Parts: sequence; C-alpha cells; structure tokens
Amino acid sequence: MSMRLDRFLSTTGVASRSEAPRLIKKGRITVNGTPAKRHDDRVEPKTDEICLDGSPITYREHTYIMLNKPQGYVSATEDLGLPTVLELLPPELRRGLFPSGRLDRDTVGLMLLTDDGELSHFLLSPVSHLPKTYFFRCGSQISEEAAEKLRTGVELNGDGITKPAELALSDTRTEGQITITEGRYHQIKRMFAAVGNVITYLRRVSIGELSLDPSLPEGEWRYLNEEEISSLQKHNRNRK
Ligand code: URA
Repeated sequence: MSMRLDRFLSTTGVASRSEAPRLIKKGRITVNGTPAKRHDDRVEPKTDEICLDGSPITYREHTYIMLNKPQGYVSATEDLGLPTVLELLPPELRRGLFPSGRLDRDTVGLMLLTDDGELSHFLLSPVSHLPKTYFFRCGSQISEEAAEKLRTGVELNGDGITKPAELALSDTRTEGQITITEGRYHQIKRMFAAVGNVITYLRRVSIGELSLDPSLPEGEWRYLNEEEISSLQKHNRNRK
C-alpha cells in the first residue's frame, strides 16, 4: 500500500512531518536512486528503496511512539470521562495504537504506544523482568533501614514480597531513582507506603534501554528511531 513520503519518513523515525520537506529539498532523500522532489510524493514502502544520504531506510509495519505523559491522563484507549493518553496524539494516528504498560494518572514520563502486539505482550509480561526506572520525590526522608528494605523487598499487603530493586538517593534523602523489574499495581507507591513514606512525584525515565528523550516536553510525542526499536526488540529476542 502506498503512503506519502513525509509519512514514511516520520513513521520510520527519520524526520518529523515538519522536518521532512527540508531533508527532501536538500536532496538527501532518494527513491530508487532518484532524488525525491516533494514531501507529498507517494512511495511504496515495501518495494521502493528509499535512502537517506545513500543509506537505505528500513520500513517497519508497526508504529512505535514515545510519549512524555503529563499528569491527568489515563493510560488506556478509552475512559468514561477522563482524558486518555491517546488524545495526546493526532486523530489520524490513534487507530490501532495502545499504551504498552500503565502509568497512574498522576505519574508522568516515558510511555510507549504501539500497535505491535507481540512486543507489547512481552513488555507487559511479568516474566520479561524488564527494568523500569523512575525518578521520585517522597514526603519524608528515607532512612538507611527503609532504603535497605526497598532494595531487598517489601511486603505489599496481601500481594507478597517485591523483587530486589535498585535505589539511588539524593543528599536530601527525599528524592532519587528507583529501578524495579516488576509491574504490580501502584507498585512504587505501595512500596513506599510499606516503609511508612509517601510518593509525592513520580516520573518514569526508562524502560529497558529505552530512555525518555530529555528534549521531549511533557504532553509531546515522537516516533522511536531505529536504534530505540531495536533495543526493545533485542530484549524480546533474547528471551526466545
Ligand atoms: N508505580 C506506581 O506506583 N505508579 C506508577 O504509575 C508506576 C509505578
């Protein structure tokens, strides 16, 4: 099925729809060896050889989007009454995409949206043990004893003991980074509650090797680039 060249360049993570015309104008994009002329030219992604600076661009059938989730949005495809993360994407892009993993409504940061069911299933599966890192602020100082408990495992009432976590604290001991390899319901908030503390701010900064792009403002999104997609798929392949 044919698609516009600018859409091809944006879904493959090469350039945003607004950057694409500039790349084309500079003659950096070729289609089957001929410099592309217009951003709205139609291309056949599966059969045309489309190159950037002479290197072929790999076409992917699936879409992978990084979103910097703001507060107040629900990680679901629909919700009665509350805005969902999908509403932060342009309407023409929403169909078929779903958030891969949940963040609470008041949690911000890295969220992956895709229509790749297999990858998403892996990322969401408890057996994947994919590390997820969060920056947090909490209500009171974390004692050495509490830090040790968070690292080795705490009992989540009625839900068993958490797996070992990595914890790095700032000098104030009221903020830091925590890395967990599970995805239990409200896990970090419940872990902190279990040691008598309270999370006041939570931002996811990475999933496996995929890090939140520091230049992406809250509420904004972009396509994952080739390297980022491969890093997620590598985890999946290693498991098989
Ligand atoms: N843990 C939480 O408590 N909330 C999130 O949104 C993510 C992890």
